[in-house]
Amino acid sequence: MKISVFGSGYVGLVQATVLAEVGHDVICMDVDQNKVKLLQQGHVSIFEPGLAAMVKENLESGRLHFTFDEKLAVEHGEVLFIAVGTPSDEDGSADLKYVLSVGDAVARHRRDPVILVEKSTVPVGTGDTLRAHIEKALHLAGRHLEFDIVSNPEFLKEGSAVADCAARTALSSAVSARTCAR
Ligand SMILES: NC(=O)c1ccc[n+]([C@@H]2O[C@H](COP(=O)([O-])OP(=O)(O)OC[C@H]3O[C@@H](n4cnc5c(N)ncnc54)[C@H](O)[C@@H]3O)[C@@H](O)[C@H]2O)c1
Repeated sequence: MKISVFGSGYVGLVQATVLAEVGHDVICMDVDQNKVKLLQQGHVSIFEPGLAAMVKENLESGRLHFTFDEKLAVEHGEVLFIAVGTPSDEDGSADLKYVLSVGDAVARHRRDPVILVEKSTVPVGTGDTLRAHIEKALHLAGRHLEFDIVSNPEFLKEGSAVADCAARTALSSAVSARTCAR
């Protein structure tokens, strides 16, 4: 299955790599060009047991790609994982601007039906906020897009992130079944 992951931080990088490891065709997109260039060369800046070797193997096998081209990433995946940062606002609430910016990219570039999987830590109701944000952008552009939003918050622990993520690969099977049923 073709999958795109937005955000190559702790959560996005581990998720993208584990999905490639189990056989998916994965593009991991980040707006940080320096981070992307390093990852394209196999340089992993976080320490997580097993991750650097897994990134290298999957880069070499061609199942894992890193890019800062949002159009490429939005068009690639049948499923798009959102794993961007959600820093705290001044009042302590999660700042959703990066999550919504992925929504903007989807509205700009996506034509085929798609499933968005929200992995970033966000408040209850963010799926509705994101849906309304994308629909407004589509409306302004005079276009329609069929899309679903799935909440799949990340609970990995740093230090055992690869094992935590791999233990949940049943997720990819469930998402796959749902996509095939369309
Ligand atoms: N790190 C953890 O242990 C952990 C655990 C559970 C949940 N989370 C949650 O997961 C989310 C991601 O956490 P993280 O630690 O990976 O964050 P991070 O800050 O390490 O990485 C986020 C990445 O998203 C990129 N980004 C921002 N806007 C983007 C866009 N529009 N398109 C593509 N990439 C974009 C940034 O450049 C950055 O590289 C947060 O909501 C966090 O709260 C983190």
